[in-house]
Amino acid sequence: MTTIVAISGSLRAKSFNTLLLRAAVAAAPADATIETATIRDIPIYDGDLEAAQGIPPAAAALKDRVAAADGLLLVTPEYNNSIPGAFKNAIDWMSRPPADAARVFAGRVVGVIGATPGIGGTGLAQAAWLPVFRTLGMLPFFGARLQVANAAKVFDDTGALVDATVRGLLEKYMTRFVQFVAQHKAVRTS
Ligand code: FNR
Repeated sequence: MTTIVAISGSLRAKSFNTLLLRAAVAAAPADATIETATIRDIPIYDGDLEAAQGIPPAAAALKDRVAAADGLLLVTPEYNNSIPGAFKNAIDWMSRPPADAARVFAGRVVGVIGATPGIGGTGLAQAAWLPVFRTLGMLPFFGARLQVANAAKVFDDTGALVDATVRGLLEKYMTRFVQFVAQHKAVRTS
């Protein structure tokens, strides 16, 4: 079994990215377990808070979940053509302290997908994650792309994914991503 932690980068109750995360779980192949996670309880990074109290419990727990998984999937909104601050903040906390960052991130396969009601499909936000992945020594998956534009038409009022084209792309993404994670899990643990 291949285990992947998947995080939505939005806190909004009706978030398109959280809907996409839910659809990704449903679209994943049977030999994968997709564990969903939220960034909701992670405070804003503050070096004084870190010095006084260490890593906040929500960030520490998410670090351990990612460290125990085979891969990481980020479902990212796009803000001002880049990464939403709250999502970057969560990863920043998870990269602390530096001596523990490799346990969580180094060599770990990471994928990024995203949804927007706009026309760009979060392509710029997805690209903006790449220097973060490089800095953390991660192994990005480039074998498929999923940039969901016009999300208000892709999901219906109940939150169901109703666009057949996007569903097909999501299934392709998840199948190839899980295969890639499984291949590199073997390399990483050998
Ligand atoms: C946005 N939005 C947005 N969308 C986009 O495609 N490109 C962008 O650059 C931006 N910029 C942006 C900045 C800020 C501050 C906000 C609040 C929003 C719109 C964004 O895609 C929309 O709010 C989504 O619904 C956010 O994702 P969730 O919450 O639905 O997952």
